Amino acid sequence: MDMIDTSKSKKLIGVFDSGIGGLTVLKEITRLLPTENTVYLGDTARVPYGSKSKETVERYAVEDAKFLVRHNIKLLVTACNTASAYAIARLENEFDIPVIGVIKPGAMAAVAATRVNRVGIIGTEGTIKSSAYCTAIKFINPAVSTFVQACPLFVPLVEEGWAEDEIAAIIAARYLEDLKKSGIDTLVLGCTHYPLLKKTISAIMGDGVMLVDSAASTAVEVKRILSDQGLLNNGDGGEVVRKFFVTDSPERFYVVGRRFFGEGLNQAELAFLE
Ligand code: DGL
Repeated sequence: MDMIDTSKSKKLIGVFDSGIGGLTVLKEITRLLPTENTVYLGDTARVPYGSKSKETVERYAVEDAKFLVRHNIKLLVTACNTASAYAIARLENEFDIPVIGVIKPGAMAAVAATRVNRVGIIGTEGTIKSSAYCTAIKFINPAVSTFVQACPLFVPLVEEGWAEDEIAAIIAARYLEDLKKSGIDTLVLGCTHYPLLKKTISAIMGDGVMLVDSAASTAVEVKRILSDQGLLNNGDGGEVVRKFFVTDSPERFYVVGRRFFGEGLNQAELAFLE
């Protein structure tokens, strides 16, 4: 490990998402690395990304990243699965700081978890269409077979606060019907919102199927990269910076966001992207 340069290590970790859901990723990062300073951008004016084309998501992701880079960040986390699936290569090329998406960490955790080499992936239409998880899993271990299902209704269900409602159970049962018959023992929750549906999904898939949370795996990867680069901030007892920005009205972000992030959510400011 390199020597720690405190002026660099105090810089912020930038995290962006299409909206509120990326707070699940930020939550895992702050749980694992409580003394890190962070800045979060939710592109709430243009959410959802999950049903949009690669070209559009790529353009949005670059604009989101540029906004965060203006905050002098030391690391960029693409919390949105759809943006990670479509835009990670472009972001890596365009910016000269480390860029982490959620796909690779999720894929690594899934390959490590499966005992029967059969992994399911659920996500937005964009994430599933991109095959990003399947490609990443095959790259790590070509012997693993992948089974996919887009679940577009899960995002609005979670935002409505119905993640553990009987409506969620009915919809999840329909989406997961084929995956349940596919013989998988591991299921990747390939969307920012799905960690909130863990109970509902687990009740349908049963104890024999392990749920892989990309958010938690990404936090571990953030820690690894910061540590490798000598950029971990161990804190000096001072106040930890937690900045939040959104591209649409901050009020809804605050109300719904608390479901994702809990009490530590500060009021967000309005962001203007260029
Ligand atoms: N954040 C998105 C993702 O993880 C879900 C919401 C959206 O479609 O924008 O793919």
